Amino acid sequence: MTIRIRQLGTALVLALSMAGTAQAQQEEPKTPLGKKMAAMNTAFKAVGRQVEDPAKNASTLEQIAIIETNAKASLTLEPEKKAKVPAGEQAKFVSDYQAEMKQLLATVEKLKAAVKAGNNAEAVKIVDDMKAAQRQGHREFRLRKAGAPPV
Ligand code: HEM
Repeated sequence: MTIRIRQLGTALVLALSMAGTAQAQQEEPKTPLGKKMAAMNTAFKAVGRQVEDPAKNASTLEQIAIIETNAKASLTLEPEKKAKVPAGEQAKFVSDYQAEMKQLLATVEKLKAAVKAGNNAEAVKIVDDMKAAQRQGHREFRLRKAGAPPV
C-alpha cells in the first residue's frame, strides 16, 4: 500500500513537471510574424465556430477584420525560415511567401463578401479553403522546430 502511494506520488510529480514543460513551450517568445499569426489564429477559430450562423454575421465580420489586419501586417514581415534558405534563394523565398499571403488576403475578401451577402453556406466553404491555405503556407514557409506538430 505504502509503495502504491509512493508510486502514485511519483507519477503525479512527473505529470505536473511535464505539464509545466508543455506550458513553457507554448509561452516561448514568438517572432514578430508569429505574433500576427497567433492573433489571426484566435480570430480564425472564432470564425470557424460561428461562420454558419447568420445571426452571428456582424460578429463574424469583426473577426474577419482582425484576420485581414494581421494578414496585411504579415505581408510586411519575413518568415524565420528565410535564414535557413541558401542566400541565393532567399529573395525568391520571400516573394513566394508574399504571393501566398496575398492569395490568403484575396480569399479573406471573398469570405467577407459572402458573409455580407448572407451567403453562409458559401462562407463555410471559403473557411475550408483558408484552412488549406494555412496548411500549405506552413508547409512551405514555417520553420519546423524539433518535436513540433507538422502544421
Ligand atoms: C488563416 C490562416 C492562418 C492561420 C490561422 C495561421 C496561424 C499560425 C500560427 C498559430 C502560427 C504559430 C505562431 C506562433 O505561436 O509562433 C503560425 C506561424 C507561421 N505561419 Fe501561419 N497561419 C495562417 C496562414 C499562413 C499562411 C498563408 C502563411 C504563408 C504564406 C503562413 C506562414 C506562417 C509562418 C512563416 C509562421 C512561422 C512564423 C515565423 O516564421 O516567424 N501562415 N501561423
